[in-house]
Amino acid sequence: MIEITFITNGGKVVSAAPNSNLLRVSLKEKGGIPFKCGGGLCGTCKCLIEEGLENTDAVKPKERRHLKPEEFEQGYRMACQTFVNGNIKVSWAGRPE
Ligand code: FES
Repeated sequence: MIEITFITNGGKVVSAAPNSNLLRVSLKEKGGIPFKCGGGLCGTCKCLIEEGLENTDAVKPKERRHLKPEEFEQGYRMACQTFVNGNIKVSWAGRPE
């Protein structure tokens, strides 16, 4: 199992299977990452992988529609498009639910 830390949600830590979709884990475990469409269209699920960016999979074309190249360099991803294969810590803008 891998560990995902939801920084913006009071540092909540949950376990997940390797290769899990980040938004799906957030929904299942009440991680609190904001979302609307769940399908790569709205951009609401923009989040910052503060640690463990190397444990995320390749950036998808849908993400490139919402995020700039320099944002990817900083570690921003769209949670609904991101699969996680190791421990990460993630934060996002806005108030926790
Ligand atoms: S939830 Fe809409 S793009 Fe991820």
